[in-house]
Amino acid sequence: METTLEAPKAKAASHTDFLPLEGTDYVEFYVGNAKQAAHFYKTAFGFQSLAYSGPETGVRERASYVIRQNNLTFVLTTPLRPNNPIADHIYEHGDGVKVLALRVPDATSAWKETTTRGGKSYLEPKTLTDEQGEIVMSGIHTYGDTVHLFIERKNYRGVFMPGFRRWETTYNPPDTGLQYVDHCVGNVGWNQMNPRVKFYEEVMGFRNILTFDDKDISTEYSALMSKVMSNGNGFVKFPINEPAEGKKKSQVEEYLDFYNGEGVQHVAVATRNIVESVTQLQSRGVEFLKIPTTYYETLPERVGHIDEDLEPLQRLGILVDRDNEGYLLQIFTKPVEDRPTLFFEIIQRKGAKSFGKGNFKALFEALEKEQELRGNL
Ligand code: FE2
Repeated sequence: METTLEAPKAKAASHTDFLPLEGTDYVEFYVGNAKQAAHFYKTAFGFQSLAYSGPETGVRERASYVIRQNNLTFVLTTPLRPNNPIADHIYEHGDGVKVLALRVPDATSAWKETTTRGGKSYLEPKTLTDEQGEIVMSGIHTYGDTVHLFIERKNYRGVFMPGFRRWETTYNPPDTGLQYVDHCVGNVGWNQMNPRVKFYEEVMGFRNILTFDDKDISTEYSALMSKVMSNGNGFVKFPINEPAEGKKKSQVEEYLDFYNGEGVQHVAVATRNIVESVTQLQSRGVEFLKIPTTYYETLPERVGHIDEDLEPLQRLGILVDRDNEGYLLQIFTKPVEDRPTLFFEIIQRKGAKSFGKGNFKALFEALEKEQELRGNL
């Protein structure tokens, strides 16, 4: 099987999307210490304080910090006591993504449409109200312990949602140009990619727009398979990875071992100027995967003309790939926890709608070339 980028199909005029999505509303992380995690994301990634919920707002069991940068919103939640679902999640998985929250025009309809198609309910439609209006939310389970919440906020004017108050602080480091969630990748177990693809197709009305088999994404040491699922308007994209057999342990298998199950592997965030963003992020201590200089020797012949100078790309370790529609620039952080689990991708798209397939091979081959030079291959 070859990599396929499916051409958009003309839809019948009568077609209506049963799960219209307006984009990612927020990503919620369950973490061991939300106060410190919020400080890390503000300091290193340039998020701004937005809202807070905890004992001071009448919530007894947890504390949540909401941080925002342009259209990118993270919620960092920690339990205040043991023996509850949040504490158990952290015990099992370490820090990681619990909620991929999607903005919808109607959260009640989203829940009905998905659960009648076989989605397992996580949260029945619930209305939260305060003097700023109301939020309706509902949710279903996806892979592992990860969930999708459907957030309807058209009748809400407040800072985040009822139960939260504005988080005022004098510590407001400048942003780093991160804009919104481009895609979120899930790692699933052996033989679980296709069942999960079916879930996104049948329960959520997504389409499989791109497929990588193990010949595309394998070197001798790091094999995986991946299918990219997209909703109708393309605002929400979820690539799904499963491990593949290689000479050594697949990087997906390593994740599954340390996360102790399926979960979010990386969140890709878009920037309009990756050189500026990554310069900022590196100077603030964000650690990125190092790319061997050999990668850049073959870059011009592989991707052709690009607007950016090669020098800063090489200095920062930014990768480039081209598809039929344009090119993209991307870079991957190291895991942001001690467990080798969740990491981030910074991506700038210049026409390309794909995910950097050329870099999977180029990156791993370049790495192995370096290994060979050292006599370690
Ligand atoms: Fe990605």
